[in-house]
Amino acid sequence: MAKAKTIRIFDTTLRDGEQSPGASMNIDEKLRIAKQLQKLNVDVIEAGFPIASEGDFEAVKKVAQTIKGPQIAGLCRANFKDIDRGWEALQYAGEKGRIHTFIATSDIHMKYKLKMKPAQVLEAAVKAVKHARAYTPNVEFSCEDAVRTDLKFMAEVVAAVIDAGACVVNIPDTVGYTIPFEYYNIIRYLKENVANIEQAIISVHCHNDLGLAVANSIAAIQAGAEQVECTVNGIGERAGNCSLEELVMILRTRHDILPFKTNVVTEQLTPASRLLTTVTGIAVQPNKAIVGANAFAHEAGIHQHGVLMEKSTYEIMTPESVGLKDNALVLGKHSGRHAFKKRLEELGYDLEDEMLNKAFERFKGLADLKKEIYDEDLDAIVADEVMRAPEKYKLSHITVTCGSFAVATATVQMEIDDISVRTAELGDGPVDATLKAIKKLTKTKAKLLQYTVGSITGGTDAQGEVTVRLAEGDRTVIGRGASTDIIEASAKAYINALNRLSVKRAKVQEGL
Ligand code: KIV
Ligand code: ZN
Repeated sequence: MAKAKTIRIFDTTLRDGEQSPGASMNIDEKLRIAKQLQKLNVDVIEAGFPIASEGDFEAVKKVAQTIKGPQIAGLCRANFKDIDRGWEALQYAGEKGRIHTFIATSDIHMKYKLKMKPAQVLEAAVKAVKHARAYTPNVEFSCEDAVRTDLKFMAEVVAAVIDAGACVVNIPDTVGYTIPFEYYNIIRYLKENVANIEQAIISVHCHNDLGLAVANSIAAIQAGAEQVECTVNGIGERAGNCSLEELVMILRTRHDILPFKTNVVTEQLTPASRLLTTVTGIAVQPNKAIVGANAFAHEAGIHQHGVLMEKSTYEIMTPESVGLKDNALVLGKHSGRHAFKKRLEELGYDLEDEMLNKAFERFKGLADLKKEIYDEDLDAIVADEVMRAPEKYKLSHITVTCGSFAVATATVQMEIDDISVRTAELGDGPVDATLKAIKKLTKTKAKLLQYTVGSITGGTDAQGEVTVRLAEGDRTVIGRGASTDIIEASAKAYINALNRLSVKRAKVQEGL
C-alpha cells in the first residue's frame, strides 16, 4: 500500500463556526474550545477575525498567547488595515501565527459585492500577500467563492499569490454549491495549470448547503489537496461547514482505499463535540454521524444480537475510537470530589480549582434533590456554573406564586453590571411572569423566537432544560438553563441568551 499522506486539519470552529446562527462565544469560551482543539491535535486553529471587533481581537490574541502546538490563524480581508490588526493579535504565536487573507474572485462577487474589475482584485490579492509576508512567511490566501470563479482567472490569481509568497492557497466553496466530481476537477485543474503550485499547499473549505461539504472535501483530497478546513459538529454559516469528526473518521475508517491520515487524536472527538454543545447551546442532531446520541446505538434486535456476537458485524468503528465512554449511571449523593473531577475529565472538562469547586457545590445541591446523576446532568452543571462568566446579567432569586385560581406573579432579583435590582410582574402563567420581570429589569427589546423545555434525563426528579432563541435586529442567540425547577431553568436560559446577545452586540462586523 502507498505510504499514507498526512492531511492537515485547519479548524475554523472559532471563526466560521462562530458565524453559525445563534452561536457566539466570549473570550473564556473560545479559550476553552481552543484548549480542547489542542488536545485534539489539529494542525491549525483559526481563532477569529481580529478586525471584526475588540472581542475577536482579544480572543485571537489570548489563543495565540496560550495555545502550544497548533498554528494559530486569524482572518483578514485583503487590505493593509485588516492585516496589520491581524498580526497585532497573531504575533504572540511567533512563527506559528498565520495570516489568512482573502478576497472574492468570482464574477458575481467582484461585480456586485466588491465592485472591482478582475485586474484590481488580482492586484489587491498580491499586495495583501506581500504585506502579510513582511510580518511572517506563514501566509494563507483564499479565493472567496472559488467554485464559481472562472478557472483561468483563478489559476492566474493562485500563481500570482504563490509568487508573492503565500504558502497555502485555499479554494473555498463559499456557498456550498459544488459536487464531488466538479470539485475534484477544479483542484486537478489547478494542480495541472498553475506552474508554481507545488510551492504551496492546496487547502479546501466547504460549506454544507447541499449536504456535500464532507464528500466534497474528500474528493478534493483525492485530487491533491493537503489541508482541509472544518469545524467541530460541522457548525458554521447557514448549513454549516465540513464536519471535522466526519472527515477525520472517514480517513481513519476507510484507510484501505484512502491512503491519507491526520494528526487528530480521535479519542478527543466526542469530548470536543460535547464541549462545543455545552458552550454554544447548539445541540447535535441525534442521528449525526460520529457524535450524535444514536451514532453507536443499535436498536434492532438482530443488530444487537450481531454486535454481541462480533462487534464488527454492525460496527465499522468502535465507540472508544471516538472517545465515547460508557454512559452508565455515574454519580450520586455519596460521590466525592475526586470521583466528580474524574468523571468530568473523562467527559472532556478540565476545570481549574475555583471552577471545579463551584461545579462541585452545585453537584452536591443537585444530588440532594435527585438520586441519580448522569453525564447529561454534568454537562448542564458545567454549562450553568462554568461557561457563564463574565456575565453582564446574573440571576439572584426568583419567587413565584401561581395556581388554578391565582394570577401568576414573579418577583425577580438580579445583578446587572454588579448592581442589585428587583421587580415583580404578573403574567399568563409563571414562566411568562418571570420572563416579563427580567425583560423589565434588563430593558431588552429582543424578541423571543423560540422557547422549549425538555427533561435532561428520566424521572420526575429530572432537571428540566430550557432553550430559548432570541433575536435583536439581525442577531440571533441561543440560551440554555437547567434546574430541577423549570421556572428557574427558564429564567437562567433567558438571562443566558441576554448575556450572549450583549457579547454579540459588541461585534461590529463592518460589511462582513
Ligand atoms: O467560506 C469562505 O469562503 C470563507 C473564507 C473567508 C475562507 O470562510
Ligand atoms: Zn467559510
